[in-house]
Amino acid sequence: MRIPLLAGNWKCNKTVGEGEAFVQEFLAQLGDTTGREVLICPPLTALYPLDKLLAGSTVALGAQDVFYEESGAYTGAVSPPMLRDVGCTYTIIGHSERRQYFGDTDEIVNKKMHAALAGGLKPIMAVGETKPQRDAGRAEDIVVAQVRAGLAGIPTEQMEQVVIAYEPIWAIGTGDTATPDDAQAMHATIRNTLNVLYGSAIADAVRIQYGGSVKPDNVDELMACADIDGALVGGASLKVESFLRIVHFVE
Ligand code: PGA
Repeated sequence: MRIPLLAGNWKCNKTVGEGEAFVQEFLAQLGDTTGREVLICPPLTALYPLDKLLAGSTVALGAQDVFYEESGAYTGAVSPPMLRDVGCTYTIIGHSERRQYFGDTDEIVNKKMHAALAGGLKPIMAVGETKPQRDAGRAEDIVVAQVRAGLAGIPTEQMEQVVIAYEPIWAIGTGDTATPDDAQAMHATIRNTLNVLYGSAIADAVRIQYGGSVKPDNVDELMACADIDGALVGGASLKVESFLRIVHFVE
């Protein structure tokens, strides 16, 4: 049984005060979350104060990225133990914006995956193709290669902690969602890759989220797909009302 994971990725948005106001309103209206897991990934500056507000709630806290060393002379970096220290249980790794603007290669993604798992964080590893890659018929090859490279050397016993997020880059922030059929097809391909790498028990257990313009009006049909086990939500996670609707998607 894969418990759906509905995650908000705030990206570079919200001050501490804005984050606190969101969480207070969100928790007040959240209601019953049985059978689903809810996660908020605010900017680093808001992690510590939001952990205080989320304590005792059913909402988990995650980071949007993590560095692969524990400590040392790495100006600007934040390590897995530091994220654990401020209440994070998850971290996104390899988001396409990290790959595009911050130089995160597959090799770096893999190092971050190892470090996150060793440090007790559940990584959400993001993969996805560009529009030209899809148009050229290379989407599956690109995504499978990213999955394989990102998971290189990760042992079977750590795989149940891993979440994969399929985020076609052309669907991120564009309002242009993958159709449920296209998303499901890629999710099935990813699950098949996990089967090849780790066997059917792990392939069945690992959650694969969809991301890319998930909104209140498309979440239900995406979540109805057999291999879609949650959503990684950017823009629509910034407003309480729309993120609540996504969390409470209708099965
Ligand atoms: P979006 O972003 O929902 O704004 O498209 C998704 C993501 O990048 O995780």
